[in-house]
Amino acid sequence: MMTEIPFIMLDDKKSHFPLYLQIYEAIRLSVLSGNFDSQMRLPSTRSLAQQLGVSRMTVVNAYEQLLAEGYIKGKTGAGTYVASVLPEQLLQTCDTVPQRSAASHARPPHSLSKRGKWLERTYVTTSCTEDDKSFQAFQNGLPAVDKFPFDIWSRLATRWLRHPPRELLGYGDPGGFRPLRASIAQYLKASRAVRCEPEQVIIVSGAQQALDLIARVLLDADDAVWVEDPCYPGARDALHSAGAKLVSVPVDGDGFDLAAALRRRKDARLVYVTPSHQYPLGVTMTLARRLALLEWANRAGAWIIEDDYNSEYRYAGRPLASLQGLDVEGRVLYVGTFSKTIFPALRLGCLVVPPDLVDVFAAARAMTDRHSATLDQAILTDFIEEGHFARHIRRMRVLYEERQRILVAAAERELSGLLDVPPAEAGMHLVGWLPENVSDKAASESAARHRVKATPLSAYTLDLLPRGGLVLGYTSLNARQIKDGVRKLAKALATM
Ligand SMILES: Cc1ncc(COP(=O)(O)O)c(C=O)c1O
Repeated sequence: MMTEIPFIMLDDKKSHFPLYLQIYEAIRLSVLSGNFDSQMRLPSTRSLAQQLGVSRMTVVNAYEQLLAEGYIKGKTGAGTYVASVLPEQLLQTCDTVPQRSAASHARPPHSLSKRGKWLERTYVTTSCTEDDKSFQAFQNGLPAVDKFPFDIWSRLATRWLRHPPRELLGYGDPGGFRPLRASIAQYLKASRAVRCEPEQVIIVSGAQQALDLIARVLLDADDAVWVEDPCYPGARDALHSAGAKLVSVPVDGDGFDLAAALRRRKDARLVYVTPSHQYPLGVTMTLARRLALLEWANRAGAWIIEDDYNSEYRYAGRPLASLQGLDVEGRVLYVGTFSKTIFPALRLGCLVVPPDLVDVFAAARAMTDRHSATLDQAILTDFIEEGHFARHIRRMRVLYEERQRILVAAAERELSGLLDVPPAEAGMHLVGWLPENVSDKAASESAARHRVKATPLSAYTLDLLPRGGLVLGYTSLNARQIKDGVRKLAKALATM
């Protein structure tokens, strides 16, 4: 029997919503809610068009959409029926999920692999910052995402997405989108004196993946690895979770202290350093220390990870060229990220490897997750090639320098005697030093009670901490948020 469809109300207010979609949606909802029985015949397109006072083509388009999605069956114009099996039924799994019994709550001991059990026991950082609160003062490591030129980014994205070339839609090169590798190689040569050809650049989903790949390709369980102390937790965790034995090495005013490292353990197979801006202390490794570290690596046949995570943000003094640029023997693995220059959620970064390691790293990448999203890589290529990347960095450098100045001035006014916050020539955060014998963990907890995030320096250390400090990110905060944060921090520290 043919049905009247009396309740389709075309809504003028929804004029931005095409008529055919309004009709489609009304019929779809009727089918889903059971108002239309399975296999019921729908009115002809002509009669429904008359009933609704719209063109027949509008109804044809609505029916075709419903046909394409499987809500109705038949041929337009030759009888159209409600489908007996709806797409929702095909897409949903059964809802009889077995409940865990109380007894099964304790996981049987054999259910995780040795590695899984080990990971479960470790202190690997899994926290994320996926809420607005994460942009509160003084969250560390976040760029000013609200200043990113999304108008340009979306224009470039639309250009690719409107007519994406077929070859960008299949499986790509595990090493990354070739034009992006070429752009990055050129950028790194010019701005960081990195010596590399495009094929040495492996595109990764952020520095974290580079660190994980390096650990898996170059380390065996129980290999000794020197890490700066204090150290970037992402690196510490990646190396630790590969089973390496971490050896903490102090950092002084010249950077990573090689002599101290050799005193602690001679047979390190790899060292992790942040020479351009030690994380989190902000020290730049001197040229003499860099040359000594390279010399040691050549002699020992060991590897150096150079994490150059935010070298773009230098406000004073001349930057030193990358450590990789001084390496003639191919011992350095250079890690870069777009998390600080674009935004962390993009998950794109690069790993520059010596020529003879290109294939093994591409294989490791393919094994992990094949490759990064090709269209994102294509958009980023255009962003770099058309000069937007360099312009954005220049603008952010000016903005961040200003934000640092505001933080230092506010700290001088409000935090005197509570926290000493010296300025820095580079970076995206400052380290505030607490008076002797004040616990930074307690200070951080007090700050949290005043809704301020101030990570204690001890959270980055393995075993050495001469004095307590708080790590204060400022780049994602405007002047008002910085001043407000400093006032709250002053209260938090005063009431400790
Ligand atoms: C020292 C260091 N390396 C790397 C990164 C960036 O990591 P990713 O590229 O995985 O976002 C950060 C971010 O905070 C960092 O502080």
